[in-house]
Amino acid sequence: MSTGKLFAIGTGPGASDLITVRAARILGEIQVLYAPASRKQGDSLALSIVREYLSEQVLIKERHFPMTADAGEKRQAWDEIAAEMAQDVTSGKQVGFITLGDSMLFSTWVFLLERLGPQLDIEVVPGITSFAGIASRAQFPLCMEQQSMAVMSCTADEEVLRRALIDHECVVLMKVYGRFEKIRALLAELGLLQCAILMANASMENEMYYPELAAIKAGEALPYFSTILVNRKYRQQKV
Ligand SMILES: C[S@@+](CC[C@H](N)C(=O)[O-])C[C@H]1O[C@@H](n2cnc3c(N)ncnc32)[C@H](O)[C@@H]1O
Repeated sequence: MSTGKLFAIGTGPGASDLITVRAARILGEIQVLYAPASRKQGDSLALSIVREYLSEQVLIKERHFPMTADAGEKRQAWDEIAAEMAQDVTSGKQVGFITLGDSMLFSTWVFLLERLGPQLDIEVVPGITSFAGIASRAQFPLCMEQQSMAVMSCTADEEVLRRALIDHECVVLMKVYGRFEKIRALLAELGLLQCAILMANASMENEMYYPELAAIKAGEALPYFSTILVNRKYRQQKV
């Protein structure tokens, strides 16, 4: 029997041609592909990004990862999906799992890795993170020379976010969805509003770019995939 292997593949931020050459090659070779199931009908976003690289024979297994505050429900889903993957790999299959951006950054993959760890042959194939994609699309630098950068989830406490915005020249604010007004108020309080940009659905067909956060109407519905970049040293070039 051939030896099975599990590949965790970062799809990049959204455009199909922003995946790596290695990811494209491996996607064409795997026999089973696990993809996070979409919440509506149709392909999951990650699956739609990679579909053009898959072989005709690949078995696609869309699996649901619950987005709930119920830790027990989430753990049960991760346990079950990890067990199914382990079974596929130990039976000798080449198995892939895809996640948006990079698999090691704010990704469900890490919960599977914790369960599948050293006992399986695993390769993680890096992907372009959303914030790298956004910095390039907006031509908005992250950091330079002695500067430092913090990558934050807007789900963090306000005080933790304030500290990061004070301590670092550059701050990436992810998971903005549903928290935009709180973050905009914090940036205004710290005099950083003009040092920030917001991009949603970066590199996708429905990309939205806001070079000025002040121009976003109060109550405007921003997409789930929205990220803010802050660079306090870049204000002069931007305005
Ligand atoms: C669960 S995290 C996934 C991060 C991903 N692993 C990465 O490498 O960027 C979801 C967050 O990533 C950001 N994100 C992912 N893709 C994006 C895109 N194309 N445009 C803007 N933000 C994006 C948003 O902040 C979103 O709330």
